[in-house]
Amino acid sequence: MNYFSYIDNELYCEEVAIANIAAREGTPFYLYSLKTLKRHYQVFDRAFADVPHLICFSAKANSNIAILKALVMEGAGMDIVSGGELFRAMKAGADPKKIVFSGVGKRQDEIEYALSSGILMFNIESSQELETVNAAAGKMNKKAPIALRVNPDVDAGTHPHISTGMKENKFGIDIAASVSEYRRAKELEHIEIVGIDCHLGSQITEVDPFIHALDRLKKLVATLRRERIEIKYLDLGGGLGIMYDNEDPPHPDEYARAILKKTVDMDCTFILEPGRVIAGNSGVLIAKILYTKEREHKNFVIVDAGMNDLIRPSLYGSYHKILPVTKGENEKKSIIADVVGPICESGDFFAKARRMPPFAPNDLIAVMSAGAYGFTMSSNYNSRPRCAEVLVNGDRYDVIRKREKYEDLVKDENIPDYLHEYRVRES
Ligand code: LLP
Repeated sequence: MNYFSYIDNELYCEEVAIANIAAREGTPFYLYSLKTLKRHYQVFDRAFADVPHLICFSAKANSNIAILKALVMEGAGMDIVSGGELFRAMKAGADPKKIVFSGVGKRQDEIEYALSSGILMFNIESSQELETVNAAAGKMNKKAPIALRVNPDVDAGTHPHISTGMKENKFGIDIAASVSEYRRAKELEHIEIVGIDCHLGSQITEVDPFIHALDRLKKLVATLRRERIEIKYLDLGGGLGIMYDNEDPPHPDEYARAILKKTVDMDCTFILEPGRVIAGNSGVLIAKILYTKEREHKNFVIVDAGMNDLIRPSLYGSYHKILPVTKGENEKKSIIADVVGPICESGDFFAKARRMPPFAPNDLIAVMSAGAYGFTMSSNYNSRPRCAEVLVNGDRYDVIRKREKYEDLVKDENIPDYLHEYRVRES
């Protein structure tokens, strides 16, 4: 359920006509609906209402500080994977006691930053990382709260680039090796074991992989408890999929019900790290048509957003619905076309061979379901300033990130002295 809908052929975000925002702010821009974001969070949170739980929004999905702040105000914690995400979470007022730190490659400085911030737990992904965290905590005279991220070797049935819980993936510690790793952790002076963690992958559209992983984790928790290794937090990661096209992912209620049925006797606090399911359908990318061209075999619709703004179609072949912001009379005379951006790569596309209205220059399109892994994966490729981000709340909108300017592109670059004196070589 989201709050992007047509009123008299005009696409609205909540109570604001998207065309009006485009007229004032220019294109392209990401547009988020606060009401949708909050609703998705609340539905997910309520699904776990019967058990002690903490929802740590996965900041990598959308890390704009206004978005994070809105979720913090709903009670959310954060799942972070870098010092930068920790900085953003703190800026947004997140409670450090609700922050979990995931990721295979945490740097020393990031570990120290998280320790001094007093986060809830580190999800440790290797023996060496465990050593590093122990040493860093020792230096700071602290105990680091940790969970081990266990790789359960379960196929999440998703795109190979976003599958993380199989043994060939770089993530986590093999489930078979995890008991001995826990024993080792127990001996370390500056480590406090508080939980167990597992994340299978992303855009998972069935409950089964979660349940298979849970079966394995349950056995492991029982073994650990027999050894008096106390597991207070059971972190099940994120990964619940959303509808981009005609997928039929489980509703958060169904997902939670399946998990809770399996864990009635477990006596722990559940941590969930949803990203996409909260933010994905809360945002869209608005772009303007620059040109259309008909070639012998193909139609192209060329828009002013590119793969630097939204890379998902190029990187994963992902499907995003494309809607006209204003439905014209031509609506019924559809054409089949590729929607492409201005970047100098053939992989720069938003849709291939898609049926759509016969767009004309200056028409606006909405690339749907772009609120997660949209702006956060954007870049300056082709020296394109990153686009603006706009948040709608009822009948008002605010720019929550300004469009970058040309000057921003070069502001941290430097021409060394010796190049100032350099004369153009004569050949
Ligand atoms: N927790 C951990 C440890 C993760 O690595 C991720 C996502 C999440 C939680 C959140 O997963 P979600 O609920 O959003 O599925 N760029 C890709 C997705 C990469 C996901 C990486 N990890 C995409 O655009 O589809």
